[in-house]
Amino acid sequence: MSKVTVIGAGNVGATVANVLAHRDFVNEIVLVDIRGEMAEGKALDTWQQAPIDYYSTKLTGTGDYALTADSDVVVITAGLPRKPGMSRDDLISTNAGIVVSCVKSVLQYSKDPIIIIVSNPLDVMTHAAFKASCLPSSKVFGMAGILDTARYRAFLSTELKVSPKDIQAVLMGGHGDTMVPLPRYTTVGGIPVTELIDADKLDAIVERTKKGGGELVQLMGTSAWYAPGAAAAQMVEAILKDENRIFPVCAKTEGTYGVEDMYLGVPVKLGKGGIKEIIELKLNEEEKALLNASAIAVKEVIDVFDNMNLI
Ligand code: LAC
Repeated sequence: MSKVTVIGAGNVGATVANVLAHRDFVNEIVLVDIRGEMAEGKALDTWQQAPIDYYSTKLTGTGDYALTADSDVVVITAGLPRKPGMSRDDLISTNAGIVVSCVKSVLQYSKDPIIIIVSNPLDVMTHAAFKASCLPSSKVFGMAGILDTARYRAFLSTELKVSPKDIQAVLMGGHGDTMVPLPRYTTVGGIPVTELIDADKLDAIVERTKKGGGELVQLMGTSAWYAPGAAAAQMVEAILKDENRIFPVCAKTEGTYGVEDMYLGVPVKLGKGGIKEIIELKLNEEEKALLNASAIAVKEVIDVFDNMNLI
């Protein structure tokens, strides 16, 4: 039996629930929102899709955390999305309190869940959830790298006119404009991407990836949900099926990469119990410098959170 709770029934949370239901391996999904009726409606809508798309996952929507009892995995998407002109960091004053209170409410009913953070500013909200939860860091982590690499892979797919399925990539650092895509570790059907694309075109794709979330905010007036929701669902699947997938995840570095012990995007092995291992790549000097710059940018916002004294 597996039970997944998704906190926040906005666009991202509803997409996580909908994608997971379609994968048809979770027994029960509970969608929670302070707007309980909105959560109820979106869960019911996804349940009414089940006879059409053939899945059996039971869905409940609610404003009541009691219904989340004994969840195996909790995905937290609650908080405000960006509006045009905002950076993810601008959301800290509203979203920090929301994420901390969601974590506390979840832990009243589930003793030992795995918590995946999706709310922004992602790295800092993951740090906040870790602090509020007192769970081991292997069980509290954030979704960013799968989304950011998906954007990078999609852009490469368009440029190279190859299937996005064949593009593999890893990316590190914070979920912001300082993120560090790693062309040296990007392959197309096993072929290093650098053999298939001019350096200036690749650079332009890396730059577009870094601002990929902002591009969508400009287009839609709010932040993205389909790819973010699917990315979080993929993490849930890796955990509950114990797949040992290798994904870039916002994880507590635990001394790896010479970075102070903090939450930052790194490649990990994800399976039963959460993060089984952080994979330490041998970065070159340029990559190390970019990662350090990203860590410094994230740390500044972590300090803002710590000074808010919410915990
Ligand atoms: C994005 C938001 C979800 O990158 O952070 O689209």
